[in-house]
Amino acid sequence: MPKQGHFISFEGGDGSGKSTQVNRLAAALKAKKIDAVLTREPGGSPGAEEIRALVLRGDPARWNPLTEALLFYAARADHTERLIKPALFDGKWVISDRYSDSSYAYQGGGRGLARETVRRIEAIAIDDFKPDLTIILDMDVEIGLKRSVARQGNAETRFEEMDVAFHQRMRKTFLDIARRNPQRCVVIPADREVDEVADAVWQTVKKRFRLR
Ligand code: TYD
Repeated sequence: MPKQGHFISFEGGDGSGKSTQVNRLAAALKAKKIDAVLTREPGGSPGAEEIRALVLRGDPARWNPLTEALLFYAARADHTERLIKPALFDGKWVISDRYSDSSYAYQGGGRGLARETVRRIEAIAIDDFKPDLTIILDMDVEIGLKRSVARQGNAETRFEEMDVAFHQRMRKTFLDIARRNPQRCVVIPADREVDEVADAVWQTVKKRFRLR
């Protein structure tokens, strides 16, 4: 059965405002009578939410980069098969706060796993499945980390605890992904007012999916 819905992922560093922008986009779609399914990674399905605790809590060095990538993709395979694809086959819009590009940026760029290794794991876990549109919220790493630490009230801080150089490599990887995939990815500068970012996101979505 052909896919009918639309799949949008949001990517960016810690503190780049993704979850706010996911909600703003959902509200803008709702005003056009489009009800989107909102989800996030790691997580989004019951099994993937269980894996979330394994990867986001504890010592930053808890897993080696390969094991960590396998865990993220195990969660992603479950999320994709059980939530994302069924919703798309139903004709729904799905918006995910992070998807596969995060593994290239964090486990690849950040933790140094070879891009080819991530690609091979990805091929097994989700085949060539990709979002129709990926919005990369880009901003200065140090400002993002300050924001993100300021709002953390929980134990899911493994990646915030990595050093600034880690986050800079992660940011660079997102920008490389955008350069390599201009059809799918749009980079939106995120160190400005929430309303301005939301407007840029909305213009991008309207144009890409020809909404009026
Ligand atoms: P989360 O608490 O959801 O924060 P954020 O608002 O930054 O998305 O934490 C998700 C963390 O997991 C984030 O630091 C990025 C990291 N991550 C990876 O390292 N690899 C992945 O494949 C995914 C999806 C997330």
